[in-house]
Amino acid sequence: MKHYLTLNDLPNLETAVAEAIVLKKDPFQFEKIGKNKTLGMLFFNPSLRTRLSTQKAAQQLGIHTMIMNFSNEAWALEFEDGTQMSGLRSEHIKEAAAVVSQYCDIVAIRAFASLTHKESDEAEKVIHNFAKYASIPVVNMESATAHPLQALADAITIKEHSIKKRPKIALTWAPHPKALPHAVANSFTCMAQQLDADFVIAQPEGYELNPEITKNTPLFHNQEEALEGADFVYAKNWCSYADYGKILRTDDAWMLTAEKLKNTNNAKFMHCLPVRRNIVVADDVLDNPNSLVIKQANNRTFSAQVVLKKILENG
Ligand code: CP
Repeated sequence: MKHYLTLNDLPNLETAVAEAIVLKKDPFQFEKIGKNKTLGMLFFNPSLRTRLSTQKAAQQLGIHTMIMNFSNEAWALEFEDGTQMSGLRSEHIKEAAAVVSQYCDIVAIRAFASLTHKESDEAEKVIHNFAKYASIPVVNMESATAHPLQALADAITIKEHSIKKRPKIALTWAPHPKALPHAVANSFTCMAQQLDADFVIAQPEGYELNPEITKNTPLFHNQEEALEGADFVYAKNWCSYADYGKILRTDDAWMLTAEKLKNTNNAKFMHCLPVRRNIVVADDVLDNPNSLVIKQANNRTFSAQVVLKKILENG
């Protein structure tokens, strides 16, 4: 595996999940593989889980890490080709990516969607330009349209907690006061479509995800109907895709509560975190033993470890 930009870069999802579960039993079994290697971690946006779990994953493989909050510590980057750089942007991506490649063996990048320019977000300007101009592998720590490390961690968590051969998984939109990106929902959808599962998505009208991502996944405008019989319920907010970046409703009718989970198959609850309590999901769901959110966060380490190991093995 050269880069890990989307879940599709994994040679095989099922094998990666199985490898992660083995790694989890003995996290230091490959601690020599990263000797004298350096992972650069560049953050254009905040993080708790991604930063700490990826750093821990690197350490468990013997990889050194260098971390930079690129948005406020580095020179502002120019991405346009052939431009006269007379404005506020001091460094071109061509030099920045090449220079980072001198110090690091792998670079991991977090750069969220603007949610103002759909075409620019979908072009994945930051991560794709790093992949273009860096001479080292690039790992996506959440880009404008994808969060593949989260999706792999979620696949590991579902595997560990499935009691059925073919579980029902429901991804449901939930309310949020801010416009949030589609990255987590997109990557979760791409992942769930690859599982042997009955996968459905519920969202209010106007909140349908990119149809190129949802493909033939059943979509429901009725949350109760979608959740019926579910073994896993994954709640997540995202802004409108069609009316790009907009919040279309602010009421709490779609907040996930214990009452709404009554018609599920004693569903396990999932969310990538951070989560706004009693806005996205009620306390009675998050504080219930069926909540997997902390286990998902723990699996972020093993998701990152599998990805970094595969990249190192590729040489
Ligand atoms: N789920 C997730 O990516 O968390 P952070 O934003 O804290 O990294």
